[in-house]
Amino acid sequence: MYPLNDKYYLQLVRDSSECLNIELHHHGILIRIVSLNNDHCSTLTHRLCETVDEFNVLIIDLLETSISNIRVTVDENLEISFPVRFGSRNYEKLWSFIIELRLETNTADEISLDPSDWNDLRLLGHKIMDNMIDYMRDVRLRPTWRPLPLTIKETILNGDLPLQGQSPWQVYDEVFTMILPYVIGNIHPLFWGHVYGTGSTIGALAEFITGTMNTMSWGGQQASIYLERKVLSWLKQLIGFPNDETSSGILVSGTSVATIIALAVARKKFHERTMIIYCTKDAHSCIIRAANLLGINKENIVYVSTNEQRQIDLQALEACIDPNTCGFIVGSAGTVGTGAIDDLQGLADICARRPNDLWFHVDGAIGAVACCSRRLRPLFTGLERADSIAFDLHKWLSVPYECGCILVRDGELHRSTFVQPTVSYLTLMDGGITPSEGEHFFSDYGLELSRNTKAVKVWMTLKTYGIERFGRIMEQNVDQALYFAHLIEQHSNQFELLAKVTLNIVCFRYIVRQSNTIDENDMLNKFNKRLLTMIQERGIAIVSPFVIGTNTFALRMCITNHRTRLTDMDKFIEQMIQVARELLSTDEFAILKTIGSV
Ligand SMILES: Cc1ncc(COP(=O)(O)O)c(C=O)c1O
Repeated sequence: MYPLNDKYYLQLVRDSSECLNIELHHHGILIRIVSLNNDHCSTLTHRLCETVDEFNVLIIDLLETSISNIRVTVDENLEISFPVRFGSRNYEKLWSFIIELRLETNTADEISLDPSDWNDLRLLGHKIMDNMIDYMRDVRLRPTWRPLPLTIKETILNGDLPLQGQSPWQVYDEVFTMILPYVIGNIHPLFWGHVYGTGSTIGALAEFITGTMNTMSWGGQQASIYLERKVLSWLKQLIGFPNDETSSGILVSGTSVATIIALAVARKKFHERTMIIYCTKDAHSCIIRAANLLGINKENIVYVSTNEQRQIDLQALEACIDPNTCGFIVGSAGTVGTGAIDDLQGLADICARRPNDLWFHVDGAIGAVACCSRRLRPLFTGLERADSIAFDLHKWLSVPYECGCILVRDGELHRSTFVQPTVSYLTLMDGGITPSEGEHFFSDYGLELSRNTKAVKVWMTLKTYGIERFGRIMEQNVDQALYFAHLIEQHSNQFELLAKVTLNIVCFRYIVRQSNTIDENDMLNKFNKRLLTMIQERGIAIVSPFVIGTNTFALRMCITNHRTRLTDMDKFIEQMIQVARELLSTDEFAILKTIGSV
């Protein structure tokens, strides 16, 4: 570090390609980097050296010069001069160089979106970075959720089409005050609603890098394609899927899109034959949406009954499989409602008996990534035998939204489903950015041509934290769910558990006693619905609704949250009891209080 005066200092840095860079810092903020390769050297005025080598010598001399001998002049440029011993070192000369501080002015009429003052952008960038890191660090200090004030809703909705631009500082200020505080809250430690992911600090930084590169990852000669191929191969390895070129995969926005892809590939396989979808009522609605989109009739969806553990009943399935048609059999590696895991090995066995007619698909949105844990992995045995697995990385793997994945056992079939006849504007060439030889085009494996780069955030997340740490977090979440279920059982006068906890989901409700009449159940449903919204609206925690059986309203906690601690469970149940007491004291629910005291 080289202080020049009270405002500026220089730092000499060797970068990874061994190039010497001079960094100029102003009040601690890096404002210029001058790379001493030949091109950049011309941006630097130096009077006594003509080549980069000479300049390197000069810099070394600078380092050896005592600070008191350095003269710094700042006007439009920063001029730094200092005496050095020269040649045989028996005489001194004054060397100086100038770093331009003037902003580049565009003399032509051409415009771009780049700032006229890069330093100003840098300052804004530093401010945003500081705010975002504080935002993540302090998340526990905020309520889980707070309602969006009407004034802010109106301000957002009334905003005029911006014909003229404005200062990015002002625009950011609006984001900071109007958007950031009013999110659904899924990065909060006490958020356990639906199946949300928490993201991570590294994931957030990766998103910034991805946005800066803004590279379009359909294919071509670029590192992001290799990165995606690599992360897909890691995911196959993790799951135990064939990890070679015979199988295929692609990162997509989520399991919903992954399911559409899986169903489209299966339909391609069975082309002119009738394909029936077999799933349970507990299967996620994305299966039905994919079927609708692909024109599969309602009559061709068969709902198979479940057993006591809410798993697909294998005998019932075998009994309803039509031997004259093809089948797309859906297994769940964690159902959305209760986290039940189907007997995936049993399903794989059934499909293996008629491999030409039955396709084994697994919805692993929640559970597939739990293969990170050695302890949890056996729950999913058989997953690796699926013909296709749709799963999410933005849920339990904490990759920032959006990021899901589809893996397909028959890679060639997968490609043939999506590949298009060549069109002139996408012709691959003998070289250049889109060479025909040896390149992998992800647009041949999914719905999109233009697609963003998801691999950087996955790659950075996996490399930074490592699979074992994720495995431990998932075990921690499962243990927290079991602990909460235990707390519910301990408070059996006030709560009841509504489903067995097999993974990270707890379904429960507040009771005044075991209800035994329909009316009472309806009243309890109403009570629990109010309890749920009050908990949410007070920012205590977030759990979400689920209906067990035909008419039992449950509060549902799903813990896919690396920030949650065991003590949050104690705090949550206590606060829930307080809110329930408050509710019971209202006229509306007085009747329940009476029943409870019977
Ligand atoms: C079991 C299951 N399958 C599929 C999905 C849909 O996934 P996505 O929202 O990523 O499209 C979800 C979402 O929560 C889910 O829980």
